[in-house]
Amino acid sequence: MDKLANERNLELFWNVQFIYELGLAMMELESFGVEYSTQNSLRTFTALEIPDEEKFNRRTAYFQKIDNQITLYSKLVSNNVTRSINQYLTHWIYPYKGKFHPQMIRGLLNCMQINSGDKILDPFIGSGTTAVEAQLLGINCIGIDISEVCYLVSNVKTNSHKYVSQLKIELEDFIQCLLEYKNENVEEDISEKISQIEKSEIRNFFRVAELIAHSDKGRRRKKDFSKSFLVNANKMFTSVTDYANCTVENNLTLGEVSIHKNDVRKLNFPVNYFDGIITSPPYSIALDYVDNDKHALKSLGHNLDTIKGDFIGVRGKGSKKIELYNEDMKNAYHEMDHVLKSGRYCTIIIGNARVDKEEIKTVENTIKIFKEMNYKLVKNIDKIIFGLYNIMQKENILIFKKE
Ligand SMILES: C[S@@+](CC[C@H](N)C(=O)[O-])C[C@H]1O[C@@H](n2cnc3c(N)ncnc32)[C@H](O)[C@@H]1O
Repeated sequence: MDKLANERNLELFWNVQFIYELGLAMMELESFGVEYSTQNSLRTFTALEIPDEEKFNRRTAYFQKIDNQITLYSKLVSNNVTRSINQYLTHWIYPYKGKFHPQMIRGLLNCMQINSGDKILDPFIGSGTTAVEAQLLGINCIGIDISEVCYLVSNVKTNSHKYVSQLKIELEDFIQCLLEYKNENVEEDISEKISQIEKSEIRNFFRVAELIAHSDKGRRRKKDFSKSFLVNANKMFTSVTDYANCTVENNLTLGEVSIHKNDVRKLNFPVNYFDGIITSPPYSIALDYVDNDKHALKSLGHNLDTIKGDFIGVRGKGSKKIELYNEDMKNAYHEMDHVLKSGRYCTIIIGNARVDKEEIKTVENTIKIFKEMNYKLVKNIDKIIFGLYNIMQKENILIFKKE
């Protein structure tokens, strides 16, 4: 049959493999008002009409081609210094456990109808995935995290592209100095040199390269500290330069990002301030975020026992720990409700962890709290997790609408 004038073939990204991704791809099409049918075992879609094709091309997360033309996201993800397909641009910086899949965040921002110029919140920003994806879509993002490591990493990922030439000068200076430093004092010398950098954005960049080197040395890898510092600083510089270049080449208007080191239980924003919330809180007591980043947190001068009291999911012992987690999350959700506009979406990605073979019903509890706050559960999408079989088999993408 002949193709109609407005018909377009849409090709999914080749890495789209899971049912939840297909579900999000279809939701994405619906959010752009695209009517479609599917072919080729669901890998190719025929769009009968795309109401705003340019917008769709610039925003889609799940389609790599419209007819034979590649979409903007195909170009963005090709800037990748790693072997992992979803660690493009600055996403790879810092080995943070429990990072979001960036493509999923872009897709969800589309499904939640967040437009460029809107303002969103991620109150558990972690390594900054939401902030990078929002920024690339021209969406303003405020990210909160209690951890100084997350504050630093998220800032560096979203801010460093503005300082490419100054970073280059400082990087060349580091290469020179490292030749002169004596091996036995190299960690102190690097740290001291970083402290002397006046401009905070440049200082933070090298601080993060230092944190990665500490993490490399501390975890099984036992890598040589100064070598790891330099390799990572160089790699970070390449990614930051790519970020700056692809912004210009693709005529992107980046969203503004602001990251705060703060406690989600004490959000300090006006009522109705945000057009959307997207976040992933600690999954009950499944992961100890203090222990996980202990090398980095210690190198930033923190006493781990003292800061533990502020991290959700880490406070207390035994059954008291779960009780405190539930109480903290209820407070956190109420704070989030306070700052979200009516009629807008709040997406929570969370799973039920298993402790002593018993499943903690965090997903069900989250749904209950949101229903009590008068939210409608619009979608509840299962997403399987690999590699954590004993603790958790799946997580849920919960999309709520504030009525
Ligand atoms: C599941 S991780 C978020 C990961 C993130 N989505 C990413 O892509 O990297 C949860 C985060 O909650 C943070 N957190 C724990 N307690 C907190 C609190 N009281 N206030 C704000 N953030 C907190 C942890 O530091 C951790 O970074």
